[in-house]
Amino acid sequence: MTAKPAGANADPQFWARAKAHLVRYGGAFAPLIAESAHGNWFTDADGRRILDFTSGQMSSILGHSHPEIVAVARRYIGELDHLYSTVLSRPVVDLATLLAEIAPGKLDRALFISTGGESNEAALRMAKLVTGRHEIVAMSRSWHGVTGGAASNTYSSSRTGYGPAQPGAFVLPAPDTYRSRFVDDRGAYDWKSELDFGFELIDRQSTGALAACIVEPILSSGGVLEPPDGYIAALAEHCRRRDMQLIFDEAQTGLGRTGHLFACERDGVAPQYLTLSKTLGAGLPLAAMLTTPDIEDVAAERGFLFYTTHASDPLPAAVGLKVIEVILRERLAERAAALGTRLKGGLQALQQRYDCIGDVRGRGLLLGLDLVKDRRTKAPDPELAQRVAAECLQRGMMTSVVRGGFGIFRIAPPLTVEPAEIDLGLEIFDKSLAAALR
Ligand SMILES: Cc1ncc(COP(=O)(O)O)c(C=O)c1O
Repeated sequence: MTAKPAGANADPQFWARAKAHLVRYGGAFAPLIAESAHGNWFTDADGRRILDFTSGQMSSILGHSHPEIVAVARRYIGELDHLYSTVLSRPVVDLATLLAEIAPGKLDRALFISTGGESNEAALRMAKLVTGRHEIVAMSRSWHGVTGGAASNTYSSSRTGYGPAQPGAFVLPAPDTYRSRFVDDRGAYDWKSELDFGFELIDRQSTGALAACIVEPILSSGGVLEPPDGYIAALAEHCRRRDMQLIFDEAQTGLGRTGHLFACERDGVAPQYLTLSKTLGAGLPLAAMLTTPDIEDVAAERGFLFYTTHASDPLPAAVGLKVIEVILRERLAERAAALGTRLKGGLQALQQRYDCIGDVRGRGLLLGLDLVKDRRTKAPDPELAQRVAAECLQRGMMTSVVRGGFGIFRIAPPLTVEPAEIDLGLEIFDKSLAAALR
């Protein structure tokens, strides 16, 4: 974002101390000071309410400070907060049992840790241990985290400057329905040829040690790339033929956001591992790695080690239980589907009026708005996207533009967003596009 803080948000002491004492971990800080967050809004130092169309960092699916989450967190911080990592408690076993009931396929065993990167690390380590192989395939626009193994298989953002990735990290072209170079005679996206070619290249690079393929069912940080119908099933078949295990990273898509409880339900494919994070704690640090009993038994026999400080912590597990209870009780997946249709319709209406909107995509409440310099060439317009984001913030709405040189907004309000707030968000986009184009 290009704007500078103003009014009480400009507090010179605050910014001087931030500059003196904070590590800059991911680009410019937003030009405001957040003071509180409730429901689908947060409030800045000027008392200005800001509509949260990013769900915090894509996590707060129940909005902020949901009263039931607050009650559970208060209770557990006072009664049962954190334990030695091999000591079990009821919330942990209850959450594992509930996830086994609702997850696709036979993902009956769970490991609870804190972050998405860790959950993917755990799945990758287990796949390596169980298969005895080490090569991992991931998508060219993936984001799986910044820890070693996850970062080795993350391609949507900068890999430059951190030395070698783990050996055997291979890339598949991400399914980009809008910009793929693979088109058939009629100009339609030929995802099958692209996928087959991708695996042909992997076979040529592999030393016979393919272990797993890790995939987001919708590639969110890569620009909200929704694989076409049939793609994930075809990918799973490629993996099956090579005896590779499949890991679905549902950090962002999991627990209702896409209109299904798990995005992979649309594709009718159950993986060997499914990772959850952001949405599972709905803003608190909780992540899970789910796998099947067959796989977990082999891993345990071989002494699987993923021992972390916060493994099986009761407090976040109790929060995760409550998050899922609310999602199921309030039928939030269905709500996401319905409100997503309203939001997508509104964005498509804007596309009719603004030539700079090249594409509107995604499903449920995980939508992408792709800004271009020219609809014919589809050249991305990252500068325009930054200007629009700054205009949105000025008008009271937080948005997220993905990294990597594109001009793609990732639009993901909490699942508790009200229809009137969707309409307000659309109005703010409309005014902000107009202002940024002036
Ligand atoms: C799909 C996906 N997986 C994993 C991660 C990493 O999660 P964390 O930042 O909690 O380690 C992210 C974070 O954006 C993500 O979007």
